[in-house]
Amino acid sequence: MNILVFGKDGQLGKAFQSVLTDQKLGEHRIHYVGRAQCDLSNADAITNLLRETKPNLIINAAAYTAVDQAEQEIDLAYAINANAPAILAQYAVKEGATLLHYSTDYVFDGTKTTAYFESDARNPLGVYGKSKAAGEEAIEKVFAAHPNPQAQFAILRTSWVYGDGGNFIRTILRLARERESLKVIANQYGVPTSAPWLASISLAMVLDENHQLRSFPSGLYHAIPQGETTWYELACFSVQVALDAGADLKLRPDRIIAIPASEYPLPAPRPMNSRLARSALDALMNQISKGSDVTKWQQWQQSWQEPVADYVQDLVLHKRS
Ligand SMILES: NC(=O)c1ccc[n+]([C@@H]2O[C@H](COP(=O)([O-])OP(=O)(O)OC[C@H]3O[C@@H](n4cnc5c(N)ncnc54)[C@H](OP(=O)(O)O)[C@@H]3O)[C@@H](O)[C@H]2O)c1
Repeated sequence: MNILVFGKDGQLGKAFQSVLTDQKLGEHRIHYVGRAQCDLSNADAITNLLRETKPNLIINAAAYTAVDQAEQEIDLAYAINANAPAILAQYAVKEGATLLHYSTDYVFDGTKTTAYFESDARNPLGVYGKSKAAGEEAIEKVFAAHPNPQAQFAILRTSWVYGDGGNFIRTILRLARERESLKVIANQYGVPTSAPWLASISLAMVLDENHQLRSFPSGLYHAIPQGETTWYELACFSVQVALDAGADLKLRPDRIIAIPASEYPLPAPRPMNSRLARSALDALMNQISKGSDVTKWQQWQQSWQEPVADYVQDLVLHKRS
């Protein structure tokens, strides 16, 4: 089998490299591709790469993710987040391939008071969210227009991703070394998602125990760990874990000040509620892991705190924050 992974230098792409290497998929040819090998804003470059590599499984971990900059770079955001996935979907339906694509809580406006279901209407607030929503719609449209029983897709919506790259937790730990007090937003709700956790759950979804493609219902899935939090709680938790792990910080959790989002204006609007209900993937993971893979089920049932604590401890231990 040929596996093509886009976004090799991003948080999720790096996590895929490490998880796929651990799984020792020697019998498969895996192509990891970054911006230098294929610029996703260039349709011809994508088509040529697909022709050369003939993937049976495409993992699209690349995206235009600069949320605030997207307000200025609208065409570029749409080219990468909407046009590129459409081309990948066209290839998948033509060749009977599987497409694994990632999306975001930002496709919702965040006004719902409970968790969003996969079936809830998209209503993105900013350009990034709109371009990601357009990518979701493009994939759905291509698959609906060209039914091929061999082809399948999963769009995994996730939130607050952290891994090997820039993210909120790293920013907080850097600021915690420099400052004695810090204001953090306390009225935006979501779930921190570890990139390796997400890569591992994604692979459990698409590959069986013999590392062959499994079939699953094409569609949207919400992929986040259990629980929920706010940026403020996540900051307090991360700082406390770092202190317990021996980090030399000026900041203490009791000097983190909870503020409303209105006190921290940013160029792009963010959803106040990023909670995603896990029902679709819950049903699938239950079916997949029934009897055969208890470890995967336990991983799926993990709450956000455990992987965040592991991540922070690792950053402190290796002085990477
Ligand atoms: N980060 C989050 O908090 C978050 C939350 C919800 C959903 N998501 C979604 O999760 C997925 C993975 O996110 P992530 O956190 O891993 O993002 P990331 O760390 O920003 O990585 C994105 C990758 O996409 C690549 N890329 C950007 N423009 C490109 C282009 N024109 N051609 C080729 N590659 C290009 C980047 O390449 P360079 O390294 O060269 O810049 C980068 O390696 C994305 O679909 C994102 O929308 C992320």
